[in-house]
Amino acid sequence: MKNLREQIEALRDEITGFNSNDPAQVEEFRIKYLGTKGQLKNLMGELKNVPVDQKKEAGQLLNEFKQFVEAHYETLKSNSSSAADAADTGIDLSLPGDPTPLGSRHPVTLMRNQIVSIFQRLGFAVAEGPEIEDDWHNFGALNLPAHHPARDMQDTFYIQQNPDWVLRTHTSSVQIREMEKGKLPIRMLMPGRVFRNETVSARSHCFFHQIEGLYIDKNVSFADLKQTLYFFVKEMYGANVKVRFRPSYFPFTEPSAEMDVSCFICGGEGCHVCKKTGWVEILGCGMVHPNVLSNCGIDPEEYNGFAFGLGVERPAMLKYGVNDLRLFSENDVRFLKQFTAAT
Ligand code: PHE
Repeated sequence: MKNLREQIEALRDEITGFNSNDPAQVEEFRIKYLGTKGQLKNLMGELKNVPVDQKKEAGQLLNEFKQFVEAHYETLKSNSSSAADAADTGIDLSLPGDPTPLGSRHPVTLMRNQIVSIFQRLGFAVAEGPEIEDDWHNFGALNLPAHHPARDMQDTFYIQQNPDWVLRTHTSSVQIREMEKGKLPIRMLMPGRVFRNETVSARSHCFFHQIEGLYIDKNVSFADLKQTLYFFVKEMYGANVKVRFRPSYFPFTEPSAEMDVSCFICGGEGCHVCKKTGWVEILGCGMVHPNVLSNCGIDPEEYNGFAFGLGVERPAMLKYGVNDLRLFSENDVRFLKQFTAAT
């Protein structure tokens, strides 16, 4: 038994020391150790000389050793065959791989992310909704009953199969969906693509992107709305930009306003971007109309809030110096690859 153990250990050292990826030598290894007249067979033959009370232990030793030799042989074999493959095909496995070129973010996405991240710092979360909407979510619930003249403010695409369906003209439809859920308070941003039947030109398109915001709670005031938007403007355009509100009309807000910022291109001097007025209009806003709240099952006596909406393409055009809206949707890689988050 002692003898057997010593023989195994001596062979184990020998085998561990054997290394080659030459297929002929690996075959020699197999014959020498694993072949029908090989060393392993020899050792197995010795089992009959081991005293009966030690046979079990000796059997276990031999089995474990057999597995070791076979595993070593498998490793040698696979190394030698991959070396042979490499030699056959002439592939240099040590060459570095081809780098995969990284894509870049779309300028509209970059602008959207920048705007969203500013409002996120005030605790606004992002909500999304379907681009094909029913009449109720796009118009009815927003205080625009059938035949309301303000429906003409947004030229709408209707779906032929079902006159109740439209391509949403604004993401206010997502505001309705959020309010219908009945979880209050709400502090949400609704970014998304919207559609209007307008002639496609350098300055207008039949689809574009919007970000709307909605805040519903108890005792929300117009001052809260102004403060939120002041914060946004400062973060977006810098501390020196001036802001003004002009009274306006939206069926879903009362009172309503449009917000202008002093032209951040010419600093208010007057240029082609602000059409020599010194001001650039950036968003519409107002206090959510009580009818809209009750349409969504919220008691307007208990809750109120504000909403605002702004386009994404226009600030992106100004930031990146893009002079034609159509470039955003043509998918020309030469255009798209120019934008990085840092610029
Ligand atoms: N939904 C309006 C639009 O698309 C924007 C808006 C949103 C105005 C919220 C006021 C309040 O023009």
